Amino acid sequence: MKETYMVVKNGKITLKIKQSNAQKYIDLGDRGRFCINNKLNDLTGKEWIKETKSWFILRPKRRTGDVLLHPAKFPESLVEKYISFFTKKGQMVLDPMAGTGTVNFICEKLERIGFSIELEQKYYEIGRNRSNQHFYLGDCKNIEHFKIPEVDYIITSPPYWDSLKRNSLRQKKRKEDGLDTEYSTDEKNFENIENYEDFLSQLVDFYKNLKRWLKKKGYMTIIVNNIYKNGKLYPLAFDLASELGKYYILKDERIWCQDDKPLIALGVNSAYVANRHHIYCLIFRNE
Ligand SMILES: C[S@@+](CC[C@H](N)C(=O)[O-])C[C@H]1O[C@@H](n2cnc3c(N)ncnc32)[C@H](O)[C@@H]1O
Repeated sequence: MKETYMVVKNGKITLKIKQSNAQKYIDLGDRGRFCINNKLNDLTGKEWIKETKSWFILRPKRRTGDVLLHPAKFPESLVEKYISFFTKKGQMVLDPMAGTGTVNFICEKLERIGFSIELEQKYYEIGRNRSNQHFYLGDCKNIEHFKIPEVDYIITSPPYWDSLKRNSLRQKKRKEDGLDTEYSTDEKNFENIENYEDFLSQLVDFYKNLKRWLKKKGYMTIIVNNIYKNGKLYPLAFDLASELGKYYILKDERIWCQDDKPLIALGVNSAYVANRHHIYCLIFRNE
């Protein structure tokens, strides 16, 4: 039953309608109950609460086909999880360093509108063929040159500085298979900035500027990691969280646990070298 009631505030009378609990919720069976006042997404309360745990395990399917060429694509299941949580059907999502266009691909699947930019032609071509969403080729630092509106949500992953360029076991195998082991030598590519401090400050400047493309109260998720190089950990994820926290509100550092990666004998009987099997999902809000 709908109940109407009057509110008198500063001498002004407003008529309000109170909804009964039964009218506020739609029963979606096994999925749980969807609240029609849900402002953020199309999830039920049961689905929502699962996504608030600060860590999660994801075992992505093995990649196949032309997307294999990209040395550091993020999994579809990860993107689906975040786009479903931070947007509703019909809303707009941006990935300014889009690689093979995974964000656009999932936008199409979930009926969102995707906008992507990628610097490297070879990944852009792959991405463009994966969906009919908006995909631009070029340097994301020139974002104002592309037709990109203010979006509801940003999800993205930058190069982890120069980490791909180092010769790990995985890179060796990829080289043998004729797959890319780095993005390119283009100096516009963030991965080619030599010094860590310069890399960090240029990345921070870019994300800071990106705020103009994110609606007020919109969220931004950055998938990123700390970087182990020459026996030392460079805290890229922590540095980004702390620097960008000056311009956005940092809401969480969710941890994606990669428990499907094999343990490698690193430094055994000699010194501590970690098997790094987790990635950070930094969640910011434009408040
Ligand atoms: C971690 S990968 C992103 C992968 C992507 N999420 C996917 O699923 O394929 C980072 C991407 O940023 C791109 N990139 C680096 N510097 C860029 C720039 N200045 N403008 C646009 N893209 C850039 C790289 O070429 C690379 O494809």
